[in-house]
Amino acid sequence: MQKILVVDDVEVNRELLRQILEDEYIVEIAEDGEQAICYLAESHEDTAAILLDLQMPKMDGMAVIEQMKRKGWMPRIPVLIISGEYAVEVESRCFELGVSDFIHKPFESSIVRNRIRNTMELFSRRNQLERKIEEQAETLREQEEIIRIQAEKLREERSFNRLMMEYRSAIKEVETKLQVLNEEFSQEYNRNPFEAIKSRLKTPASIFEKLRRKGYPLTLEAIRDNLSDVAGVRVICSFPDDIYRIGNLLTKQDDIILLQAKDYIKNPKPNGYRSLHYILDVPIFLSNEKKYMNVEVQFRTIAMDFWASLEHKLRYKKNWDRADADEIVAQLKACADSIEELDYRMQKIRDKIDRCSKE
Ligand code: GTP
Ligand code: MG
Repeated sequence: MQKILVVDDVEVNRELLRQILEDEYIVEIAEDGEQAICYLAESHEDTAAILLDLQMPKMDGMAVIEQMKRKGWMPRIPVLIISGEYAVEVESRCFELGVSDFIHKPFESSIVRNRIRNTMELFSRRNQLERKIEEQAETLREQEEIIRIQAEKLREERSFNRLMMEYRSAIKEVETKLQVLNEEFSQEYNRNPFEAIKSRLKTPASIFEKLRRKGYPLTLEAIRDNLSDVAGVRVICSFPDDIYRIGNLLTKQDDIILLQAKDYIKNPKPNGYRSLHYILDVPIFLSNEKKYMNVEVQFRTIAMDFWASLEHKLRYKKNWDRADADEIVAQLKACADSIEELDYRMQKIRDKIDRCSKE
């Protein structure tokens, strides 16, 4: 059974209401406003309605309503005023404060029961509706948030894809320049300055891994500003002097900016790695702008490339036995030195062939 609190200082009224209601409800009693507030402090959660007298000693009904309003109980519990005759202003003030209805004295049992039942029903319907609306509003807010996040992701993905497109275009510019030089050489001198070009765009995973490893934020600006090897072009030549020849011809072109050169042929790495590295700024021409993009170009001989791909495998294998690793490193170093010697011997033979064929 639901609990109803009857607040009245006149015993006869309390008893009358108890008799009318006790078949349908558990009737709790308070003799003045203070008792009512004390009771509600404990039990406002499971009080289904309050029948409240206005004129009482200590704390009157209006003060009870104001307290209930302050404590946030009014929207949850229907309050019905039990009254004699009150001025219209008092009644309208009560309605303003959230009172649901009035039950006038003398009490007529069926009217009292019906008013309470109707009021409680209306109240619970209204509360259910409000809860439903609040739930729907919450779902809507969540959906809006999801849409916002998805839109953001899409925008980021679009700009990331655009940046990759720009790097791809820069690779194409460099490849075209190299192919033009190659074609000119094969027509004019009947030889090719390089054997092959291998290009690669760094994968998103590898880009983000490098940003993280170097402590940069995962943003497009950080990629542009700090990674110079997103676009990579590898030029494989037959002979060491072709590397410098083609490298020079490329970097002296007036739209190319040479940002950095690392000559690991003149200054090999301790492991024996030999290649010529250039970081270039290469212009790409888009529909409404000209943009410079970083491209890393590596030049090496066929033999050096063969060596580097084998040595590369060493780096990606983990859990080496110390002795095995040391031996492989030493053998690779010896091979690199042999390769250098071989490259220059081959170059000398080529020179001799060239000289002999001219004589
Ligand atoms: P990364 O952070 O690896 O790009 O190095 P870096 O920015 O200090 O530049 P560096 O010129 O040393 O290396 C650039 C690229 O050259 C590497 O990503 C490799 O592709 C290649 N490279 C450099 N050193 C070696 C090496 O010892 N062995 C092999 N196989 N490749 C190397
Ligand atoms: Mg690099």
